Amino acid sequence: MKDIIIAIDGFSSTGKSTLAKQLAQRLGYTYIDSGAMYRAITLYFMRHDIALNNQEEVLLALDHIELHFDENGICLNKEPVDAAIRTMEVSAKVSEVSALEAVRKFAVAQQQRMGVHKKMVMDGRDIGTIVFPEAELKIYLTADPEVRTQRRYDELKIKSPEISRQEVQANLAHRDHLDSTRAFDPLRKADDARELNNSGLSMQEQLDIAEDWALQLIQQS
Ligand code: DC
Repeated sequence: MKDIIIAIDGFSSTGKSTLAKQLAQRLGYTYIDSGAMYRAITLYFMRHDIALNNQEEVLLALDHIELHFDENGICLNKEPVDAAIRTMEVSAKVSEVSALEAVRKFAVAQQQRMGVHKKMVMDGRDIGTIVFPEAELKIYLTADPEVRTQRRYDELKIKSPEISRQEVQANLAHRDHLDSTRAFDPLRKADDARELNNSGLSMQEQLDIAEDWALQLIQQS
């Protein structure tokens, strides 16, 4: 048996976190949602009105941020913020914050420390390319645009019933653009990643495929 790192990358609302969480559970691995880290940093910046174009202010703010995960999700300076980071306000700002070089360096260094003992599934945008370029299994998850819009809409409607499908679609398109065109660590498929389009797959089917891939590597002696 071999301990491995599994990197799952893709655009938002492709179902990365659902797959990553279930896969980690099946394998007895730790799951880390790297997007939650960027969201928690964004929440801190919004609460403290940090000017994103002021490098010194950004660095100082990062010095005051401590992130960790417990059984309920991410904590920002010990405060559980898993619900607070999933609002439209944070979603609208997070691509801009996560495009900053200082923010990325801060988050990537922590993510790499979390993975030193392997047995980890981490999802995000740059996990297979920048955070763990040596990851044994890299999955690049995709889904058709209409499917992604519907998923995000269903998710957000519960908390914000007034939200429209058009707003959700526009927010996704805007974030896709920012995430894939930013200067530092943009989203791209690693050359050695396996692409999985889950538009026509049930959760069970996509989990079975990913688990098969993982077990082939874990059981290699
Ligand atoms: O996966 P998510 O939608 O919760 O991610 C929130 C934002 O964080 C997303 O717009 C892109 C950014 N992100 C990133 O830049 N790198 C990662 N590894 C994970 C997320």
